[in-house]
Amino acid sequence: MKKVLISPSLLAADFACLSGELERMERAGADAFHLDVMDGVFVPNITFGVPVVASIRKAASLPFDLHLMIRDPFAYIEAFADAGADWITFHLESESDPVKTIDLIHRLGKKAGLSVSPGTPAEELLPFLNKLDLVLVMSVEPGFGGQKFLESCLPKIRLLREHAPQLRISVDGGINAQTGKLCREAGADMLVAGSYLFGAENPAMAVRSLKESTEE
Ligand code: DX5
Ligand code: ZN
Repeated sequence: MKKVLISPSLLAADFACLSGELERMERAGADAFHLDVMDGVFVPNITFGVPVVASIRKAASLPFDLHLMIRDPFAYIEAFADAGADWITFHLESESDPVKTIDLIHRLGKKAGLSVSPGTPAEELLPFLNKLDLVLVMSVEPGFGGQKFLESCLPKIRLLREHAPQLRISVDGGINAQTGKLCREAGADMLVAGSYLFGAENPAMAVRSLKESTEE
């Protein structure tokens, strides 16, 4: 399996000093930044949009792992690509056509990801796997940080790994050292964590604890 990548979710950062927060995570050994875009329609919460992504792009050197929790991602792909997203992930439950949206992301030279919420079976992703660079398995209901990890994501990760040995499989929601280990064992090779990393006294140790098991 590929190296496990750690993607801190900025939702848990201090928005009053985002550039300092980015720097703190870069120094801690993060591999990418996870940016949660919510529109208040697809999920009952609103975060930030294109202008914020474009301006923090200048303050960060790691790739941007964009997670679109919006009703019609297709309509915004180009704007987010221009704003500096590197990986663009949208939801299978959104209203956009998955194939058209994946193709558009690729035409713009970006990596395409498709995500499933906890209630959607992983089997629904299978027809798209050969077109994707990443799948994002939600381990909480999308919309808010700080929720409890749902173990129902583990068989989904296993199934996807069986079907796609080379695919980047990311997990998002309730990730800490213990739940991260369960996800890695199931076959995930990218872990998104918000409250665990930004709330850590020692972020470098927290990043390390997600990459490897420290207890044995
Ligand atoms: C939830 C977001 C997550 C969230 C994770 O809709 O997609 O990225 O920020 O936060 P934690 O790690 O605190 O569960
Ligand atoms: Zn997310």
